[in-house]
Amino acid sequence: MKTPTELKSILSRYKTPEEIEKILDIIEDIHVARKGKNMVILGHNYMPPEIYYGISDYTGDSLALSRIAAKTNADIILFNGVYFMAETAKILNPGKKVLISDKTAGCSLAESVNAQILRDFRQENPGIPIVSYINTSAEVKAESDVICTSGNAAIIIDRIDSDTVFFIPDVYLARNAQKQTRKKIMFWNGKCMVHELFSETDISLARKTFPNVQVVAHPECKPEVTAVSDYTGSTSQIEKYIEQYKPGKVLLLTECSMGDNIRGLHPEVEFVSSCQICPYMHRITLEGILKSIKEEIYEVTIDEKIIEKAARALNKMFELGS
Ligand code: 13P
Ligand code: SF4
Repeated sequence: MKTPTELKSILSRYKTPEEIEKILDIIEDIHVARKGKNMVILGHNYMPPEIYYGISDYTGDSLALSRIAAKTNADIILFNGVYFMAETAKILNPGKKVLISDKTAGCSLAESVNAQILRDFRQENPGIPIVSYINTSAEVKAESDVICTSGNAAIIIDRIDSDTVFFIPDVYLARNAQKQTRKKIMFWNGKCMVHELFSETDISLARKTFPNVQVVAHPECKPEVTAVSDYTGSTSQIEKYIEQYKPGKVLLLTECSMGDNIRGLHPEVEFVSSCQICPYMHRITLEGILKSIKEEIYEVTIDEKIIEKAARALNKMFELGS
């Protein structure tokens, strides 16, 4: 968490002084509202700086946040991210209260597949394990053998005991993972509406305009895009890469807030060209969060049987490691 002065300086790049004052006031109200509650606030790397730096106890990618959620001693988890992430926290903590300030914060990948599709696949393809990306609903996780994230997809596929796997729902993440494993991957055709917008043309234009630019992509981008990028990784892996190599100029092929947050840590790094906004992530606002904390509302609830089965698939990921 940053101090109000540090946050002010980060926000001054995008907000007017009046907007900043309003933001700092709500942040103060949030700190007051959570006092006395045994609550942990988690923030995905795509949260805007006021949420990421202003109120989050922990930040990270889907894998890091699910690990933190699995270990927390807090009674209440407030998840600032999209709905499947809050559901994952609930699956790992069935006895705890998990809140998300906007339950309509969905995900184009999670919406591209449902549990019946997995049941039908199993019937037609007995014995082929189903590896599901964490960007799926609790019902889909419950029908899966193992879950993976963007940070460990190829490792999980490699470690599962089968030469062939069915990977759902992200076709691009699956094709990117296919470059790193000899296993046969059967694909589904889900796509991230944000990352599918990046193209090789974006990269060649940026390379022409900024000769020393480092191109950093998320594995939800098309394989044609990751093939001509300098580095591909999950949001936390991208953060570590920039931390380690401190490139002068970066073309970041992922969600816009990610760049805003890294800028807060490395103001010396210049981010060039355009990013893309995830409309679902941006449904999470400080106002909604304050209401959720004050009234302890917008609770995630999942059927017990679904939790039990989905937890098995998530724990299989932790067991397979990385
Ligand atoms: P990470 O697990 O890399 O944070 O990705 C989550 C996501 O939704 C990316 O679009
Ligand atoms: Fe889903 Fe894409 Fe938004 Fe991530 S960026 S939450 S994958 S729609």
